[in-house]
Amino acid sequence: MIHRTRAAAIRDRKGRPFATITAYDAAFGRAAEAAGIDLILVGDSLGNVVLGYASTTSVTLEDMERHGAAVVRGTERAHVSIDLPFMSYEASNEEAIRSAGRLIRAGASSVKLEGGVERAERIAAIVNAGIPVIGHIGVVPQTAALDRGFRRRNDRERLIADADAVVAAGAFAVVLEMVDHTIAGEITKRIPIPTIGIGSGGKCDAQILVLYDLLGFSGFIPPFVKPYANLADVVTATMRHYAEDVAAGRDPADGPSERKG
Ligand code: KIV
Repeated sequence: MIHRTRAAAIRDRKGRPFATITAYDAAFGRAAEAAGIDLILVGDSLGNVVLGYASTTSVTLEDMERHGAAVVRGTERAHVSIDLPFMSYEASNEEAIRSAGRLIRAGASSVKLEGGVERAERIAAIVNAGIPVIGHIGVVPQTAALDRGFRRRNDRERLIADADAVVAAGAFAVVLEMVDHTIAGEITKRIPIPTIGIGSGGKCDAQILVLYDLLGFSGFIPPFVKPYANLADVVTATMRHYAEDVAAGRDPADGPSERKG
């Protein structure tokens, strides 16, 4: 029987660099696993990159269950962590545990939630209920509008307090989003669990990218992602090729026609 990578195994990778990626469906979950990535996050960036919302606050628990379960079905060994969406864990510890439980029933190996000191109680409640948790500090998109938007965070004392609180609450890893690179390096040295950086520099234990940014499918490439691929152009060219074949009366079942660019 094949076992999924457990939270403890991820925690034990502290100090050994590893890549993680977001995915939102079975096909890309399968591709990530085939690439040797064994921590996959079903992020609520789902809202922006797949569902077409302007922000992650529109994403529901049902959205996360459906897309999370799809990634789980497409994978066998990967640890699949599913994001708790906005307003599924803030109101009370009981609600946080119930929401996390629904994601576990959808197949999640763990859940991730945003916030440091102010969310430590929720993290501890979910961990005490037996569900592994990944923390997320720095820029926290669900409530970024309350703070300084998506600007890089450099408030050292606050970031360190957040990291310490997430560790004390029992998280097994923590995402550092858009954190000053020197402070991200300091936090990485300081805490005993892996830091997973996004836009936080190369000193984090691990890195995560939003899948569609990596593939060149988001309409723009964030400054912290090198242009690995431009699949948007490849997909558009492929669809145009198909549309031209059909418009010219060619059956798409017939062998490849000459590509026009
Ligand atoms: O929702 C998401 O994709 C995330 C990652 C950027 C860490 O939270």
